[in-house]
Amino acid sequence: MKKSTLHLHPAFTVGDVDPRIFGSFIEHLGRAVYHGIYEPGHPTADDEGFRGDVIDMVKKLGVPIIRYPGGNFVSGYKWEDGTGDKSKRPRRLELAWGVTETNEVGIDEFQSWCRKADSQVMMAVNLGTRGPEEARQLVEYCNHPGGTEYSDRRRANGFEEPFGIKVWCLGNEMDGPWQMGAKTATEYGRVAAEAAKLMKWTDPSIELVACGSSNYSMCGEWEEEVLRHVYDHVDYLSLHNYYGNPSNDTPSFLACNLEMDTFIQTVCGIADYVKKIKRSRKTMYLSFDEWNVWFHSHGAPFEKWSIAPPQLEDIYNFEDALVVGCLMMTLLRHCDRVKMACLAQLVNVIAPIMTENAENGGRCWAQTIFYPFMYMSQYGRGKVLDTRVECETYSTDRVKNVPYVESLAVLHEDTNELDIFAVNRSLEEASEFTFDLSAFTGKPEIIEHVVLYHDDLKAINTAENPDNVVPEASGDASANGTAIKATLGKQSWNMIRVKL
Ligand code: AHR
Repeated sequence: MKKSTLHLHPAFTVGDVDPRIFGSFIEHLGRAVYHGIYEPGHPTADDEGFRGDVIDMVKKLGVPIIRYPGGNFVSGYKWEDGTGDKSKRPRRLELAWGVTETNEVGIDEFQSWCRKADSQVMMAVNLGTRGPEEARQLVEYCNHPGGTEYSDRRRANGFEEPFGIKVWCLGNEMDGPWQMGAKTATEYGRVAAEAAKLMKWTDPSIELVACGSSNYSMCGEWEEEVLRHVYDHVDYLSLHNYYGNPSNDTPSFLACNLEMDTFIQTVCGIADYVKKIKRSRKTMYLSFDEWNVWFHSHGAPFEKWSIAPPQLEDIYNFEDALVVGCLMMTLLRHCDRVKMACLAQLVNVIAPIMTENAENGGRCWAQTIFYPFMYMSQYGRGKVLDTRVECETYSTDRVKNVPYVESLAVLHEDTNELDIFAVNRSLEEASEFTFDLSAFTGKPEIIEHVVLYHDDLKAINTAENPDNVVPEASGDASANGTAIKATLGKQSWNMIRVKL
C-alpha cells in the first residue's frame, strides 16, 4: 500500500467558496431544453410543461446559478423570440447546431424554471450577430421595474415584477472561428466595453462577465487585449475548457486538472498584468463558466434541421467521475479568484442528468459525474484550507510529476466540521492517507467516509441500471486522538467528514 499525508492548519487558508462555483449551464442545444427540462407530455410535467423529475434531480445537485441560453446558440439568438405569446413565436434555423428552434421556451420561461429549481439565471447576450443596443434592451426587459417600452413589454407578458437577473455574460467564445459573428480580440474588446457601459447604465446593480478564450490552447494574447478594453467595465473574465480521454490513456486523463490549474494561474497572471499597466485597484475575478469532460459523443450523427435531436449526449463512465472530482478540487483551490463556474451542461447535453423522451419511457437518471458534483456542492461550501499532500508521484508521456493523491480540505466554522475530498489516481494500489488535526480545537470524530469506486473504469449508469456507479458510506476513516487515518482505495473518490 502507498502512503499519503495531508498537511493542514486552520491558519492557512485560501478563502471562502462562493456558492456560484457550483453553477451549471443550459443551452438551446440537443435535448437540453426540449425533452430535458421541458416536456409538456411527460407524466411529471407541471402546468408550464417543466419536468418535475428533472427539477428534483437539479435540486439534489444544488446548482445556485445556471448560464443560459448558450453557448454557441446565443450568438445568433433574438431574445424577443423567447418572450410573450407562444403561439406567435417564430421557428428559426438555428445555425450553431444545425437544427430548428421552435422558441417554445425562452427568456420568459427559463427564469420561471430557474425559480422552481432553486436557482438563478446567468444570462448571456448575443454579441455575435447583434450588438450593445439589443443587449441593453434585454437588461431593460428583465430588470427594469416598468414605465418603458421593454419593461412594459415584460409586464404585458404577465411578469409584473422584474426578473432581477444579476449576472450577465457578454457573448460567448467570441475568439472561436465556429462562433457566429466571431471577432478579433480588438473588435470584441471594443464591442464588449460599449455593451457593458449600456447594460450597466440600464441597471447598475448587474455584474458582467467578459469572454476569455475558448480553451487553454487559445489563451494568452486574447485575454490581454480584451482586458485592456474592458477592465474597468466588467467584473469577471470567463474561462472555458473541456477534457477527454480519446486515446484511452487513463493515467494522463486523471491528471487533466493539473492543466486546469495552469490555465487558471495563467489567466490570473495576465489579468494582474493588465491591472498593473492600468494602475487599477480592482482585481479581476474569474468565471470558469464552461468545464466538463466532453469527448465521447464527438461526431455522432443527427438529422439536419430537426427539432431537439440527441446531440452531444456523452455517456459518462466511472473514470470521468474521478476526473470531475479532481477538476472540482482545482476550482475550489482557486476560490480566491474563481468566483463562478458552470458544469457544462446540466441535462442530456454533456450532462450529469439524463432523460428519456416520454414516448421512450420517460425515465430520468444520474450519470456517474453527478455524484462528486453533488457531494462537493453540498459539503464544499466553506473555507478552503491551503493544504499540501505529501505522496509519491508518477509521469506519463503527456504529464510529469503527478501526485497519486489529489486532495482538498474545506472548513465549516459554523458547524465545526472539516470535510476532506480525495482522489487516489493509482490504478493498482490503495493509499494509506493520514492527517493530524492537533492544530484544530476539539476532539475529532469521523461523521462518514463516502467512497465512489468501481472496479471497471468504463462502468456507466443507464436508465435500466441507474445505480451501477453510486457512492457508498463504506470507507474506513478513523480517528485516534487527533490523528486521522483512512484507506483511499485504488482509483477511488473519497469524502471524509470530520466533526471537530
Ligand atoms: O457546451 C457546448 C459548447 O461548447 C458551447 O455551446 C460552446 O460555448 C462550447 O464550445
